[in-house]
Amino acid sequence: MKVGIDKISFAVPKYYVDIAELAEYRGIDPNKWTIGIGQKKMAVPSVECDVIALAANAARNILEKEDRDTIDMVIVASESGVDYSKSMATYLHQLLEIQPFAKSFEIKQACYGATAGLQMACDYVSLRQEKSVLVIATDIAQYGLKTSGEVTQGAGAVAMLVKSNPRILSLETVSVSHTQNAFDFWRPNGHQYPLVDGKYSTQLYQSEFVTVMEQAYRLYPEQITQTKAVVLHLPFSKMGKKALLALQEQEILEEECKRWLKHYQNTIQFNCEVGNIYTGSLYLSLISLLYHDDTLEVGQTIGLFSYGSGAVSELLFAQLEPNYREVVKEYVHSEQLEKREKLTPEEYEVLFDKKITLDSVGNSDVFSFQDEGVYLKQIQAYQRYYEINNISS
Ligand code: CAA
Repeated sequence: MKVGIDKISFAVPKYYVDIAELAEYRGIDPNKWTIGIGQKKMAVPSVECDVIALAANAARNILEKEDRDTIDMVIVASESGVDYSKSMATYLHQLLEIQPFAKSFEIKQACYGATAGLQMACDYVSLRQEKSVLVIATDIAQYGLKTSGEVTQGAGAVAMLVKSNPRILSLETVSVSHTQNAFDFWRPNGHQYPLVDGKYSTQLYQSEFVTVMEQAYRLYPEQITQTKAVVLHLPFSKMGKKALLALQEQEILEEECKRWLKHYQNTIQFNCEVGNIYTGSLYLSLISLLYHDDTLEVGQTIGLFSYGSGAVSELLFAQLEPNYREVVKEYVHSEQLEKREKLTPEEYEVLFDKKITLDSVGNSDVFSFQDEGVYLKQIQAYQRYYEINNISS
């Protein structure tokens, strides 16, 4: 029985800042950020648009009544959690009106978390083919103003519905994973922003990619040589290309790398417009490839390289299902990117510095939001309350 992604979509905040304008404002050559890093725009969240709101809005793009009744498990992957104990999945279970007899929980392993969630979902459905699982990756990536990581910030969520006989991608059971305890990027409890060893993190990413791909070639040479295109975790759009070039230099998979590089431009289209969304970045890149690449054909194999600092990596294989293109286009709502409002660098700085302040008993101000969808309304006694704006209805 085939199991995999039946529907997929994403959500981003309503604001963005132009990367070239921000570079000039910082006194940096814009080419460094647009060519050297490879970004065009960066999604900027307001306080009302937190990780739970983003996750809910991504899931609302794909969920229909029948899904809400059959989802048996809600898995939320994030490294921007809002609580040490209570998972964001419980908020989302309620906001998305999932049937009450479902289980809901959160997964954390830096940017790798959603891949663990996706695989768990596939295994779960393989054993219970009438059930479906909602997997959501949601994050706000922030390093701070004027830091070297600033250009690689972003915010957004990706939601996937995992079912038997999926209409987009069926996942293979074989995969290759790799773990090593490393300090490339981490966020100790209490730290507002992550600690990051920038240069080392890009080197570790590349060496993890090479290690995993070489092992995959040793164990599953047919799958590797049949893989038509590879999507990678994209903290910034140049990163995946650097990894593919590093693999090509090993002179083992030269032909494959050439082929994968031909598809590369299509894998970064949406990521260039959004920035890093941590757990969702790989899956935003997958959406980008499926949405933009007209050369792919039904039945072809796609490789998915997941990387989470700290560090865990995994290569998955998946096959394109009939009508995948139509299903992707039906649910993705790419127009949300064009509808966004541009901030000047000054406005971006003001929004960035606006944090939620709580009084001594854990109450915040009441927020209002002029956009459609779910938003954080208020925090009362440390409890978060959300509302849904149905502007078009
Ligand atoms: N025109 C064109 N290109 C230029 C240029 C110019 N005028 N000036 C510089 N460049 C190029 C550089 O040559 C370099 O390209 P290569 O890497 O291909 O040589 C590129 O622009 C970036 O230049 P620097 O390395 O000097 O940039 P930097 O020191 O400002 O740092 C960074 C870049 C390390 C990515 C930093 O933004 C950072 O720390 N980001 C956060 C960490 C991160 O994203 N790491 C990625 C791997 S970890 C991961 O994947 C998990 C995760 O999501 C965080």
